Amino acid sequence: MAGGKSSQLFFILLLAIIVSSGPAVAGKPTKITRLQFYMHDIHSGRTPTAVRVAPSRPLNFSGDNPMAAMFGSIYVADNKLTSSPDINSTLVGRAQGIYAVASLGWEMSLHMMLTYTFKQFNDSSFSVIGRNPVMSPVREFPISGGTGVFRLARGYCFAQTNSTSGMDAVVGYNVTLFHY
Ligand SMILES: *[C@@H]1O[C@H](CO)[C@@H](O)[C@H](O)[C@H]1NC(C)=O
Ligand SMILES: *[C@@H]1O[C@H](CO)[C@@H](O)[C@H](O)[C@H]1NC(C)=O
Ligand SMILES: *[C@@H]1O[C@H](CO)[C@@H](O)[C@H](O)[C@H]1NC(C)=O
Ligand SMILES: *[C@@H]1O[C@H](CO)[C@@H](O)[C@H](O)[C@H]1NC(C)=O
Ligand SMILES: *[C@@H]1O[C@H](CO)[C@@H](O)[C@H](O)[C@H]1NC(C)=O
Repeated sequence: MAGGKSSQLFFILLLAIIVSSGPAVAGKPTKITRLQFYMHDIHSGRTPTAVRVAPSRPLNFSGDNPMAAMFGSIYVADNKLTSSPDINSTLVGRAQGIYAVASLGWEMSLHMMLTYTFKQFNDSSFSVIGRNPVMSPVREFPISGGTGVFRLARGYCFAQTNSTSGMDAVVGYNVTLFHY
C-alpha cells in the first residue's frame, strides 16, 4: 500500500517536471520562412554526391515488374543545394542523409530521410522524412523539425524535377517553414 502511494507521488512529481520543462516557447510559431533552391543528386562522374550503399548489385525479384529490381536499394547523399538549376550557381547549402527505394509497385517511390543545412542561416537545418514518388511532377514532403533558426520548425516542401541525365537529377524545392 505504502509502495503504491509513493509510486503515485513519484508519478505526480514526474508529471510536474514534464509539464514545467516543456519547450521554452509557447503558442503558435510566429515566423514563416520560405526557401527556394535546387538540389543536385549526382551519381555519375568522378565526384558523385549520392552513392548506392546497398545492395551491391540489383536484387532478383522474378515478378513481372522490372522496377522491383530496385526495391531495397539504399543511397547515402551529400548533395549540393544551389540558387539556380546550374550546379555552378551560388552554393546555398547541402542535403545530407539517406534515401531508399521503398516501392514494389509500378510507381517508383523513395523514402527520404534527409537534413537540409543552409550557410546563410548559420548552418541551421531542417529535416524531411517522407515518401517521394519520383515520377510525379510535384512531390510534397513534410518537415519534421529543425535546428538553430529553424528550431521546433514545422512545414512542408514541394519538389519538382528540373532535369535528369541518367541517374543524375536536379530537383527544384519550394519550402515553407513555420518557426519561432
Ligand atoms: C532470377 O531469378 C529467376 C527465378 O528465380 C532465375 O531463373 C534467374 O536466372 C535469376 N536471374 C539472375 C540474374 O540471377
Ligand atoms: C561547372 O564547373 C565545372 C568546373 O569549373 C565545369 O567542369 C562544369 O562543366 C560546369 N558545369 C556547368 C553545368 O556549367
Ligand atoms: C549568425 O551568427 C552570427 C554570429 O553569431 C550572428 O551575428 C547572426 O545574426 C546569425 N545569423 C542568423 C541568421 O542567425
Ligand atoms: C515554386 O515557386 C515558384 C515561384 O513561386 C513557382 O513558379 C513554382 O511553380 C513553384 N514550384 C513548386 C514545385 O511548387
Ligand atoms: C527549371 O528551373 C528553371 C529556373 O527556375 C525554370 O525556369 C524552368 O522552367 C525549370 N524547368 C522545369 C522543367 O521545371
